[in-house]
Amino acid sequence: MCGIICYCGKRQAVPILINGLKRLEYRGYDSAGFAVVGDAEGEKGKSIVVKAKGRVSQLEKKKSGMEIGATFGIAHTRWATHGKPSEVNAHPQLDCKGKISVVHNGIIENYQELKRELEAKGHVFKSDTDTEVVVHLVEEYFQGNLENAVLRTVERLSGTFGIAVVHADIDHEIVIVKRGSPIIIGIGENEYFAASDSSALAPYTNRMIYLSDDEIAILTADDYHIKNLKNEDLVKKIEVLDDMELHVDKKGFEHYMLKEIFEQPESIQNAFRGRIIEGEGVSKLGGLEPVLDRIKKIKKLVIVSCGTSYYAGLLGRYIFEHLTQLDVEVEVASEFRYRRLKLNEEVMVLAISQSGETADTLAAIKEAKRKGALILGIVNAVGTAIAQITDAGVYNHAGPEIGVASTKIYTSQLVILTLMALFIGRYQSVSFMEGAEIIRAITRLPEQVREILDNAEQIKEIALKYAKYKNYLYIGRLFNFPTAMEGALKLKEISYVHAEGYAAGEMKHGPISLIDKNFPTVAIAPDDLTLDKMISNMMEIKARDGKILSVTNDNVRKVADVSDDMIIVPRTLPILQPILNVVPMQLFAYYIAREKGRDIDKPRNLAKSVTVE
Ligand code: F6R
Repeated sequence: MCGIICYCGKRQAVPILINGLKRLEYRGYDSAGFAVVGDAEGEKGKSIVVKAKGRVSQLEKKKSGMEIGATFGIAHTRWATHGKPSEVNAHPQLDCKGKISVVHNGIIENYQELKRELEAKGHVFKSDTDTEVVVHLVEEYFQGNLENAVLRTVERLSGTFGIAVVHADIDHEIVIVKRGSPIIIGIGENEYFAASDSSALAPYTNRMIYLSDDEIAILTADDYHIKNLKNEDLVKKIEVLDDMELHVDKKGFEHYMLKEIFEQPESIQNAFRGRIIEGEGVSKLGGLEPVLDRIKKIKKLVIVSCGTSYYAGLLGRYIFEHLTQLDVEVEVASEFRYRRLKLNEEVMVLAISQSGETADTLAAIKEAKRKGALILGIVNAVGTAIAQITDAGVYNHAGPEIGVASTKIYTSQLVILTLMALFIGRYQSVSFMEGAEIIRAITRLPEQVREILDNAEQIKEIALKYAKYKNYLYIGRLFNFPTAMEGALKLKEISYVHAEGYAAGEMKHGPISLIDKNFPTVAIAPDDLTLDKMISNMMEIKARDGKILSVTNDNVRKVADVSDDMIIVPRTLPILQPILNVVPMQLFAYYIAREKGRDIDKPRNLAKSVTVE
C-alpha cells in the first residue's frame, strides 16, 4: 500500500524515481506522482511536479517530452484512503505557494482538526487527502530550516506515517520521517536514497538502513544524517542485503505469482535449511535461542495475523496442538487488538507476516507487548517493523514476494510453524521417533512440490473447464479446513469470482442450500482419518447435482467415486499434507484468473502491504 522513493545525488533523478515506482507497483496503488527540484544546473526555487491517476506508465507518458535534469526529488504511489483516486489527490501534495512538496504513507488521524486550524490561518486546501495537512503544517512552521519545520510538524501529528519533504529553495535536501510506516535509507556511492522497501532500491545499492519509529533522516548531496525527534544524532547499523533478499525479476514467467508458485521447492528448502538436526529429531531455531528459557515457561500461544498469514495461523493452531502442550488461540489481528486480553508473561504471542508491515498485526503485537506477553514473529521482509518489535523470531528467507496473492510465503510459513512447534514439543512430550519422522517428511517436501508442479498442465486443463462458474465452495476438515479457506481466498482475490472456504462439517449448517449444478465444490480430501466424513459430505453435494473437484492422494477409490475431477498430490504426514494440497489450489486460481484476463499480480483494490488499519 502506497510506496515512497526518494533520490538525492548527481544523476538525473526522474528515471531513478520512475524506475523505483515501478518496482513498488506490487504494493498496490491507484495513482502516482513525483516532485523534483531544479534543472540540470540545480536551479533553486523551482519544483517540477507531475502526477497521474492510474498506473506508473500513465505518469511516464505525462512526463515524456519534458526535459527534467533535476538531481534530487521524491516520488509516490498512492493507494486511496482519504479521497478517491485522482490527480489532485495523488502525491506529492504541495503547500500554498507550491514550494514545499510532501509524499506520505499511512494515515494522519487528526487531520480534520488540523485542517480546520490551518484553514482558519488562511491555508488553502485543494485535495481530499489527510496528507495535505502535513505540507501546510510544514509551510506554517518553515523559517528557513526544513528539518526544524518537519520536527515541529511531527509533534502535531497523530497516526502512522512515512513522510518525505523537499523545499524548492533548499538545494539537495530531503527530510524524511517515520512513525509506523516503513522507510529504508539506501546508501550508494555519493548518492542517497529512501524507499518504502528494499526492492525499490535493488538496482542501485544493497546497503540499507532501516529507520525505526520516530527517527528522522536528512539526505543531502554528499551525506546523510539520522536523528531522533529530540534532534539527537543517531548511529544506525548499515545492513548489507544479499541477492536473494533483493532479487525481483520474473525469470521468464508470465507473472510474478506463477514464478513464486514455481519457486516453492526452493522457498520450502530455505525455510528448513540449517534448522533441523535429523539425528536428534529436533529443529534448531537460532532466532528463538535467546528467549528459550522464557519459552519453556509459556503455557499459552496466541497467533495473530491477517489474510493468508491468518490462514497459516489457523493451521498453526492444529500443528501446535498436535505437537505441544500449549493452549493455542488464533485471532485476526484487527480483532485481537481490541479485545479485553488476559495476557501475561506465561503467554506467547506469535505474529505471522510476509511484509512485516501489516498495520493490524503490528498494532496487535504492540498491545500484547504492553501487557507483558513474549512476542515472537515469522516474517519474510528482513528488518521491517514487525521484525523489529518482536522479542525473537524466525525469518522465512524466501526472497521478495511480489505477486499480491501470497503463495510461496504461505507454504514457507507452514514449514516454519511446524519447526517451531517441534522445537517446543521436543522439550515436552514429542519423542525422538516422532520428531525424526516429521523431519524426514519435511525434507521430502521440496521434491514432492516439484512433482505437483510437473503436473501444472493437467491442473490448467481442469481450471479452464471450471472457469465458467461464478461461485465456488471449498471444503476441508481438520488440517485441511484452513487449506479450504486459503484456496477460496486465492481464487476470489485474483479472479474476482465468489468463493467460500468452509469446514466440511459446517456445510450442512447453511452453505449446502447454495449447491446446484452451477455451484461447484472443491473438496480437499486427502487419505487421512477424516476421509470417511469428507466422503459423506461429498455425497451430500452429489445428491444435489453439485460438481466436485477433489484434491486427494493416489488410489483412493472412494474419492474417485464421488468426484467429477481429481487432482492427485503426493502423500505426506497429515500435519504436512496441507503444504502439498495448497499448491494445486494456487495453480487452479492462477489459471482461472488468467483465463479471465485479470491483472494477476496487481488485482484491483488490493495492496501487497496493508499499512493502514
Ligand atoms: C492474500 C494476501 C493477504 C496477506 C495479508 C497479510 O494472498 O497476501 O491476505 O496475507 O494482507 O499480509 P502480511 O503477511 O504481509 O502481514
